[in-house]
Amino acid sequence: MTKKATVITYGCQMNVNESAKIKKILENLGYELTDNIEETDIAFLNTCTVREGAATQIYGKLGEIKRVREQRGTKIVVTGCFAQEQGQELIKKFNYIDIVMGNQNIGRIPEAIEDIENRSAKHVVLTDYEDELPPRIDADFESKKTASIAITYGCNNFCTYCIVPYVRGRERSVPMAELVEEARELVKKGYKEIILLGQNVNSYGKGLSEEETFANLLQNICDIEGDFIIRFVSPHPRDFTDDVIDVIARNPKIARSLHLPLQSGSTRVLKLMNRGYSKEQYIALAEKIKERIPGVSLTADIIVGFPQETEEDFIDTLDVVEKVGFETSFMFMYSIRKGTKAAVMEGQIDDEVKKDRLHRLMSLQNSISKKLSMDYEGKIERVLVEGPSKKNKDMLSSRTSTNKIVLFKGDKSLEGQFVNVKINECKTWTLYGELMAD
Ligand code: SAH
Ligand code: SF4
Ligand code: F3S
Repeated sequence: MTKKATVITYGCQMNVNESAKIKKILENLGYELTDNIEETDIAFLNTCTVREGAATQIYGKLGEIKRVREQRGTKIVVTGCFAQEQGQELIKKFNYIDIVMGNQNIGRIPEAIEDIENRSAKHVVLTDYEDELPPRIDADFESKKTASIAITYGCNNFCTYCIVPYVRGRERSVPMAELVEEARELVKKGYKEIILLGQNVNSYGKGLSEEETFANLLQNICDIEGDFIIRFVSPHPRDFTDDVIDVIARNPKIARSLHLPLQSGSTRVLKLMNRGYSKEQYIALAEKIKERIPGVSLTADIIVGFPQETEEDFIDTLDVVEKVGFETSFMFMYSIRKGTKAAVMEGQIDDEVKKDRLHRLMSLQNSISKKLSMDYEGKIERVLVEGPSKKNKDMLSSRTSTNKIVLFKGDKSLEGQFVNVKINECKTWTLYGELMAD
């Protein structure tokens, strides 16, 4: 009987990308993929540890899989950032876990499984080889239209709140020729949206034998023939150089949606966070981008309740959110990560204060999102069709270049195609439109 494998993914798009590679490795080993853990022979948890809540989720899932393991001997593998952070500790806590490995080590999955199966090892822990890159693999992505490419691994920024540089190691760029080739292959396979991934994409190219720039990479991918859209996450405001703005401005293939992580609007807090820009520099950058790339929509990540954040600092954050006008933001309460600088800073903020600030920030952001959404009314937007809407099967779900969701009536055969839609109704998060004839 064919053996079955399940891969459950937490965390960011980098993990989603690596899960696609893990799945391909498992298929190559002869496993059939299933989403049903009740019938699986080997379960992978690809984990995140960016905030404290991530671990709670993982513990819950581990308990569930342990029960299946007791019934059918399912092997349990924990990969990803939480695995990398915990290493051997995870086996000490949960001795029913078979394999713990960091994502740079996923090329070693075949040997690790073999060691467990032939019982030459009771547990396998692989969290070193920091400089290793996950193997280049022609992964199949869940969506038929969207694929992602990791252009850098790791991070050198050491923002003081962040665990990522500790669990993902130093920044390493993939050579330009490989990336352009990979993008070309994906476009040839029919993918219509390519997302470039890295913790700080615009520092791409540093340290390569031939130093390259993110702007050149973008231009080279734009030059690939075909109708497709390019997105990237995340750029760092400090490194958002003019050459990158220029490439975006002159290439309609690059999405009119930029994620520009703010983190805080207070220059004082930004300094404590080691972000390398001030409130004024951030606002100036956002204004420059809007001016040079008409119609661009900006989104951000924002943290409230960083150590020593005062009401005044927080008001600075609200002020930037208001002035820049983010289409949407991802808003988080500061969460202590052991081993980071901020974890041992004086002046940690009470949970109640964090919650209050988060609510106030969310309510401001919602009102801005709502207002910006109204601007789409009556416009004709070129959208990429994702497939039937999950909530309303009669409608197709699609996205604008600015990454706004548009629902409209149309035939399923339009999936994966670009079409023009006239926007008739605007809700905060969703637009409703009608298909236009070409
Ligand atoms: N490299 C990316 C993403 C890092 S993690 C970037 O720099 O944008 C995604 C987001 O999680 C961060 O942007 C930050 O807003 C948030 N985050 C990271 N560490 C956190 C912490 N300790 N507490 C709360 N939010 C955190
Ligand atoms: Fe973390 Fe900062 Fe690196 Fe992003 S840039 S991964 S927030 S250290
Ligand atoms: Fe989480 Fe690791 Fe991504 S900590 S956010 S999965 S880089």
